[in-house]
Formats: sequence, C-alpha cells, structure tokens
Amino acid sequence: MSLIDDARAAAGSAYAPYSEFRVGAAVRGASGAVYTACNVENAAYGSTMCAEANAIGTAVAAGERSLESLAVACIDATTTDGAYPCGNCRQLMNEFGVEWVEVTAGDGTTRRHRLSELLPHGFNL
Ligand code: THU
Repeated sequence: MSLIDDARAAAGSAYAPYSEFRVGAAVRGASGAVYTACNVENAAYGSTMCAEANAIGTAVAAGERSLESLAVACIDATTTDGAYPCGNCRQLMNEFGVEWVEVTAGDGTTRRHRLSELLPHGFNL
C-alpha cells in the first residue's frame, strides 16, 4: 500500500464530529517503518489535534528521530486545492527533517511536494 493509501485508511478512524472533516496521515521514518494517525477533535475546539501532528508524535514515541515523507488525506469534501497540511504541522515536519509531503488534491489526484516548497525558511535553532 502506498503512503497516501495508508493515510486514507487512517482517516477512517478520525474523530471529527464538529468539522466532519476526517483526516488521516501516514509518515515514513528513517527506519522504513510507517506510522499512521487521524485527527482527534474536542468540544473545546482549540484542543483539536491534527492527523499529521498525531502521526509525527506516534513516530517519535516509537523512537524515530528522522522522518522521510508524510502523506495526508481527507476522505470528506475538500477545498478545491485539496487537503494541505496546516502551518503548524509543516513546522512539526520541519523539526524531524521530512523531505516529501504527499497530499490529495481537490480532483482526487495525489500531489507530491518538497517540504521546502510548502515551508520555505522553516524555523530551526
Ligand atoms: N486538520 C488536520 O487534521 N490536518 C490539517 O492539516 C488541517 C486540519 C483537521 C483539524 C480539524 O479536526 C479538521 O481538520 C478541520 O480543521
């Protein structure tokens, strides 16, 4: 299964009763292992956790410190541009060196971007 297929499958577990926007993410670590997660919403909207953030957290908790690529998919209606990661999640990817980001475009096709294209000049210490 491709990384984007893994992300789409993970979106099936999303807890998104408020937005009804079910998102899944799959991240491949340097070890080659793949970690998946979904968005988890909260009645206190600001406590909502994005699928990408949860997938990165899961990978790091498993011992990964370098991440290769991340795919994100929404299985509900998307904007015309598709399901692109939010700015905060782009910065989380930057921390662990994600190079490639795959998204599902509004027309259902998969687009592949370098993270440096989606987050030029990401913050590093
Ligand atoms: N969401 C994600 O999981 N990832 C993103 O990159 C953008 C937004 C979730 C958060 C919330 O549960 C829903 O999508 C609508 O914003």
